[in-house]
Amino acid sequence: MKVEDVFKNNEKWISNKLSIDENYFTELAKGQAPEFLYIGCSDSRVSAEDLMGIQPGQAFVHRNVANLVNNVDLNVMTVLNYSVRHLKVKHVVVCGHYNCGGVKAAMQPDDMGILNPWLRNIRDVYRTHKDELNGIEDEAKRYDRLVELNVQEQCVNLLKTAAIQQAITERGLTVHGWVFDIRTGKLIDLNIDFDAILKDIKEIYNLY
Ligand code: CO
Repeated sequence: MKVEDVFKNNEKWISNKLSIDENYFTELAKGQAPEFLYIGCSDSRVSAEDLMGIQPGQAFVHRNVANLVNNVDLNVMTVLNYSVRHLKVKHVVVCGHYNCGGVKAAMQPDDMGILNPWLRNIRDVYRTHKDELNGIEDEAKRYDRLVELNVQEQCVNLLKTAAIQQAITERGLTVHGWVFDIRTGKLIDLNIDFDAILKDIKEIYNLY
C-alpha cells in the first residue's frame, strides 16, 4: 500500500461520513463520552473498533504489546485514570488475542534485550500459573491458555488500582476480560469472576 493511498482513503472516508450526516465532524469535535475503555494488543490484526463494530467516540483505546496493565507504566496508568475518573467510562476491557507474538516471545527463554522487562510481566503470569500451564501437554493449547491467563492477570492488575476500586464501588463500573480468536474472528468473554477476585485481593490491595 502506498502512503498516497492513505490520504485518498481519508478523502473517501470524509465523503462517506458526510453523505450520511453532514454534521458528523461538527458533532465529533464537540467532545467525547465513550462508554468503554479498551486495553488491547498493538498487533496490527487486532483492530478494536472493527472487532467490536463501534464508531469513533465509543471507545477510549490503549494498545501495547500483549495488552499489559503494569502499574509503573505511566502511559497505561494515565489512560486508565483519565478515562475512568474524568470520562467516566462504564466498562473497562482487557482484550487479548490468540497467536499473540508478545505472549509467544515470553514463552521462549531467550535474552530479548530491551523487550526483557516488558516480557517479564508475562513470564510472571506464567510463573503464577505454572502448575496449570505445565499440566497442558499440547504446546498450542498451553500457548492459548497463557493468552487467557495473561488477560485475567491484567484484569487483576486493574482491580488493584484505586481508580478502578473507587469506580466499582461508587458507580458500578465493570471490568471485562476478553480474548479475540484471530483464527475465527470470534470475540470470547472469559467470564472472569471479578467479585471473588476483588474480595480476595482487597485483603492486601484495599485502596478505596
Ligand atoms: Co499480541
